[in-house]
Amino acid sequence: MKALVLSGGSGTRLRPITHTSAKQLVPVANKPVLFYGLEAIADAGITEVGIVVGDTAAEIREAVGDGSRFGLDVTYLPQDRPAGLAHAVLIAREFLGADDFVMYLGDNFVVGGITPLVESFRSERPDAQVLLTKVSDPAQFGVAELDAEGRLAGLEEKPRAPKSDLALVGVYLFTPAVHRAVRAIAPSRRGELEITDAIQWLIDEGHDVRSTTVSGYWKDTGNVTDMLEVNRSVLETVESLRAGSVDADSELIGRVRVEAGARVVRSRIVGPVVVGAGAVVENAYVGPFTSLAPGCRIVDSEIEYSIVLRDASVTGVRRVEASLIGRDVEVTPAPRSPSAHRFVLGDHSKVQISS
Ligand code: G1P
Repeated sequence: MKALVLSGGSGTRLRPITHTSAKQLVPVANKPVLFYGLEAIADAGITEVGIVVGDTAAEIREAVGDGSRFGLDVTYLPQDRPAGLAHAVLIAREFLGADDFVMYLGDNFVVGGITPLVESFRSERPDAQVLLTKVSDPAQFGVAELDAEGRLAGLEEKPRAPKSDLALVGVYLFTPAVHRAVRAIAPSRRGELEITDAIQWLIDEGHDVRSTTVSGYWKDTGNVTDMLEVNRSVLETVESLRAGSVDADSELIGRVRVEAGARVVRSRIVGPVVVGAGAVVENAYVGPFTSLAPGCRIVDSEIEYSIVLRDASVTGVRRVEASLIGRDVEVTPAPRSPSAHRFVLGDHSKVQISS
């Protein structure tokens, strides 16, 4: 069995973070969301992985390399335009050969991995298997309709009037039967070859397509709230670590990971929190469910329930909460007089002021 991991797309829903970074590399608890998927694939005993890449190919290649770090053998499959998930299967035809495969969307996060799913697919081997989960905004997903017996009856991509709240999760298991399906379908309203239509084609042709419903699923749907929430749930599982330095005037409570080269000085950190390699926390309070990426500086400040990306700094600010702070961002207080806010905000930034 092989894996096909989709890592193209432009990530409009996570702007401005995705102006400078591929959406699959947005970190959750300091680790790119894509890496959780690759680890889940390796855990399921799959080693041959094709990664479909688009405009952000260079960045994905740099982050993942040849895959050996994950115990994987990675082949890159360039897609010249974002022409849909079924198009990605089309261009991966040669790589996939006659093998069954799991298709994994690199911006999806499935709590608990995919091992049980892959195992049951291997033993039962239906023609295709999809994963479903209940969501509050089904119109943003592929939506499934089940019949009275709970069998998959139909699928619709981003329907205006969803027939259920069961969304397609971005993990699909296929036998080579899918290759006829992706050749048979036509582009959708949005001009893409939809995998949803290919699966519908399989159902219509009488193939055995099964579904499993899972909980513990995340995908960006445009709000930072969801990202903070998945960050929180992953931080729940981190183990304490003291690889960096913590001075005698600091207090660390609960599970706090201080990575190599990080420095905690005269500060109080209440976990779960990750302090990335080389980050500095000085005269500060860092509260629960905060991820500080490598190279961040939190000085004379208070922050909690937030994600701070690489090399950003927060200095002299009380208090920051429920925030996503991008790479190399600087947050500082304005001069006392005149009493005014001062901004240099990139395109698509969002600011909430409390005053
Ligand atoms: C794609 C699929 C959709 C699925 C979603 C899960 O949507 O087309 O059916 O529910 O992934 O992530 P897209 O990310 O292209 O909007």
